[in-house]
Amino acid sequence: MNDVINLLNQHRSIRKFTEQSVPSEWVGEIVKAGQAAATSSFIQACTVIQVSQGDVRNQLAECSGNQIYVAQAPIFLVFCADMHRHKDACEQHQQHMLSGYTEQFLTASLDCGLFAQNCAVAAESLGLGVVYIGGLRNQIARVSELLELPELVYPVFGMCLGFPDQNPEIKPRLPLEIVLKHEKYSVDADVKHMHEYDAQVQEYYRTRTGGGKEMTWTEQISGMLVKESRPHMLPFLNEKGFLLK
Ligand SMILES: Cc1cc2nc3c(=O)[nH]c(=O)nc-3n(C[C@H](O)[C@H](O)[C@H](O)COP(=O)(O)O)c2cc1C
Repeated sequence: MNDVINLLNQHRSIRKFTEQSVPSEWVGEIVKAGQAAATSSFIQACTVIQVSQGDVRNQLAECSGNQIYVAQAPIFLVFCADMHRHKDACEQHQQHMLSGYTEQFLTASLDCGLFAQNCAVAAESLGLGVVYIGGLRNQIARVSELLELPELVYPVFGMCLGFPDQNPEIKPRLPLEIVLKHEKYSVDADVKHMHEYDAQVQEYYRTRTGGGKEMTWTEQISGMLVKESRPHMLPFLNEKGFLLK
């Protein structure tokens, strides 16, 4: 349709990078593009921490379940939802900020998602590859300590960036008929489309793994969502001052 839409549709996560370094000024441009995203009530609640290769980066890789590309990627960014400076802003005007609302957690986390996705698209437009790293939340308290995050700041996810050293296939998404509904919510046509999609995903994995993996989407999801999902998150977020009311 146009270059922007073509770029968006070409996305695939990159988990192997060449050793070619990324020009340092690109990082600033990528983060500025992130800042250009819409932000709930102008709160601008995202802070990015760039972590260079070395001991802390290696520990972040460990925290993420030993995802080797976290240690190896030329650039690694951690996107933090940050309501800390808002407390300072209130204090500057002799106001006491009421924090801990679920709404604030939601808006700060959403801000980070929109910010990061702008960064991802900007990076891809420069020929870089990216992968988000939610695995950081496996050991979120340790990540928070390593990065010295204060109260009202939490690491939402990381992102590896660099020049791609692999060319994976684009992963098929759910059919439009399932995700775009008209006038009201309805599941009438979903089962039929889901069967077709399952076959498509199975074929994708078969090709990608040379026949080693043949999982459908519903199989993958049903295997995942019967397990506990990082139950340490709520107490951690409470401790940081989020999700208290
Ligand atoms: C918030 C978020 C966290 C993610 N965390 C990880 C991660 O820790 N490790 C990883 O290899 N991929 C991670 N991914 C990448 C997804 O697995 C990937 O986007 C998804 O399988 C679709 O594949 P694609 O990006 O190649 O289209 C994450 C993606 C998102 C949006």
